[in-house]
Amino acid sequence: SNRTFTMIKPDAVANGHIGGILNMITEAGFRIVAMKMTRLSGEKAGEFYAVHKERPFYGELVEFMSSGHIVAAILEKDNAVEAFRNLIGATNPANAAEGTIRKKYAESIGRNAVHGSDSDENAEIEGNFFFSGLEKF
Ligand code: GTP
Ligand code: MG
Repeated sequence: SNRTFTMIKPDAVANGHIGGILNMITEAGFRIVAMKMTRLSGEKAGEFYAVHKERPFYGELVEFMSSGHIVAAILEKDNAVEAFRNLIGATNPANAAEGTIRKKYAESIGRNAVHGSDSDENAEIEGNFFFSGLEKF
């Protein structure tokens, strides 16, 4: 697929990095198809990250993702899922490569600035979680 889904997480929004992150995304050749600044309730954050329900960090993750505003967006580029995961870098910023978004903006493995879908199927599901049909057109 040529689409992926991203969120700028509450740490990066609160620290004033929306503009810097969107600039890295567009400079890397992604087109922004849909975008909104919004908030997740604890319930909605739990639903979004339900796949991690059994992980020890689930409660912390849900609390963090519902702690402030996020920016949700659908992005378009050839081979979008893999290209975007390369741009954001490793989950733990200590392991993130130079030039990646997490290297520049992530604070820790939990507060790691951005989300990127991990498969075409999840990109579709996650985009639909935030955007209606017309918004994605
Ligand atoms: P996402 O793009 O956000 O899905 O990150 P990812 O695919 O690189 O990582 P993964 O899907 O495995 O984990 C989802 C999110 O859970 C991560 O982005 C982190 O914010 C959080 N997370 C993962 N591992 C830990 C951990 O050990 N501790 C804490 N506090 N959070 C974690
Ligand atoms: Mg993931």
